[in-house]
Amino acid sequence: MSRILFVTSSLRGAASLSTKVATALVDRLQTQSPGATVVHRDLAAQPLPHIGEDFVAAQAVAAEARNPAQQAALALSDTLVQEVFAADTIIIASAMINFGLASTLKSWVDYLLRAGATFRYDETGVHGLVTGKKKVYLVEARGGVYSDGPAKAFDFQEPYLRHVLGFIGLTEIESIVVEGVAYGPDVAEKAVAGALDKISTITARAA
Ligand SMILES: Cc1cc2nc3c(=O)[nH]c(=O)nc-3n(C[C@H](O)[C@H](O)[C@H](O)COP(=O)(O)O)c2cc1C
Repeated sequence: MSRILFVTSSLRGAASLSTKVATALVDRLQTQSPGATVVHRDLAAQPLPHIGEDFVAAQAVAAEARNPAQQAALALSDTLVQEVFAADTIIIASAMINFGLASTLKSWVDYLLRAGATFRYDETGVHGLVTGKKKVYLVEARGGVYSDGPAKAFDFQEPYLRHVLGFIGLTEIESIVVEGVAYGPDVAEKAVAGALDKISTITARAA
């Protein structure tokens, strides 16, 4: 049975294209695998607090010595980490904000990358701990065009997401890009249609 973790992070509510396209992917995967479960981590509706001193200090003290604020910071991180470990399919809907991620998705990453929980270092280097067969789909919406051309160097969304996910062991990553949506309604419509086509290809392959 498939276990899907669906992460959304748009600032644009019902107008969000990343949420729209990613929801279509979730729906199709569920249709293909009727017993699939979906955990929706809606970062826009329930934004995560920024990590801060409590989160960092908590990791440097023994569990029994943690104060309530430190315990709460790590408990939140534990929940988010467990959601990722429990999933076999992770779908992340990401809006490009100022060339990178929405800050709430960045906070999710900050709670997820935790030494001893999702990665570890040894004398040979870093090892991601989120192993097992897991597939990640990134659905990325952008006003401009970054997949090719002069703006490619300013895409701090996809390379960043691929790097941090790979760092913890999630290396099976496929992107579905909805871009150029600020160039006008026709371009936006075509971008969404192209992304939905790609979803059809992906789901047909997975069937
Ligand atoms: C605050 C803000 C900042 C944005 N920054 C960028 C940007 O740096 N580059 C870009 O191409 N589009 C940018 N956009 C446009 C969004 O990426 C675009 O509207 C996209 O569709 C957002 O995803 P969503 O539809 O899922 O909300 C920005 C939009 C907002 C609201």
